[in-house]
Amino acid sequence: MSAGTEKSNSYNTIAKSLHWLIVALLIGQFAIAWTMPDIHRDTKPVDLIAWHLSTGAFILLVMLVRLGWRLASTVPPAPANLPPLLQLLSRAMHVLLYGMLIVLPVTGWINANARGWTVTLFGAIPLPALVATGEKWGRQTGNIHQIVAWVLLGAVGLHVLGALYHRFVLKDALLQRMLPGEGRG
Ligand code: HEM
Ligand code: HEM
Repeated sequence: MSAGTEKSNSYNTIAKSLHWLIVALLIGQFAIAWTMPDIHRDTKPVDLIAWHLSTGAFILLVMLVRLGWRLASTVPPAPANLPPLLQLLSRAMHVLLYGMLIVLPVTGWINANARGWTVTLFGAIPLPALVATGEKWGRQTGNIHQIVAWVLLGAVGLHVLGALYHRFVLKDALLQRMLPGEGRG
């Protein structure tokens, strides 16, 4: 494929930057989530737990910006030689990933508020409470939050396998359209 064709067939610089920023933030966020202490009734939101809350709030902010950018900009078309079913699956996976990356922080936020914790952005800007302290269903969102985190991990695994399938089996240029280089915003 010529350089000129690749250029228009690539995600723009902002879309790429936001994609890889989210990947980096998620690696940090899962590392924090799995190292932070178990949360009980009288646990205080300090140290690693505070980091989990504010990193999660930042992920939500970045995802909202990313969603806005995604809806406002054009994205490269699915590779023409890809069977329609795979095109559909790949688009559905992208929608699922966006959805989970919004549902996950929001359920965490609700659970934090139900525990009486204030969620802050960058540990400094307090965000409004989504539910009242002690709210019963707000407490249950903690379980949903944990389940969605595992489903997200599984979905990311399939997504990465898909990218590697393009790179090493189909040997097309799909991976390159999300890598630095060609393509401009
Ligand atoms: C995309 C961002 C997020 C990811 C990937 C994530 C991931 C996780 C994971 C894996 C756990 C389970 C930890 C364990 O096994 O013990 C967890 C727990 C928790 N997270 Fe998050 N989280 C995110 C965002 C947030 C946000 C924004 C908040 C609050 C503002 C939050 C609040 C919590 C709370 C309160 C728990 C404990 C839930 C419970 O034990 O009932 N999370 N998170
Ligand atoms: C936390 C991990 C990841 C998440 C949450 C994620 C999420 C996403 C999302 C939502 C899209 C759709 C972009 C859009 O249409 O706006 C996308 C596209 C893409 N991602 Fe990821 N991604 C992750 C990791 C990776 C990794 C590790 C690779 C490379 C091995 C990768 C390669 C790609 C490629 C090549 C595309 C473009 C697919 C296409 O053109 O149809 N992603 N990713």
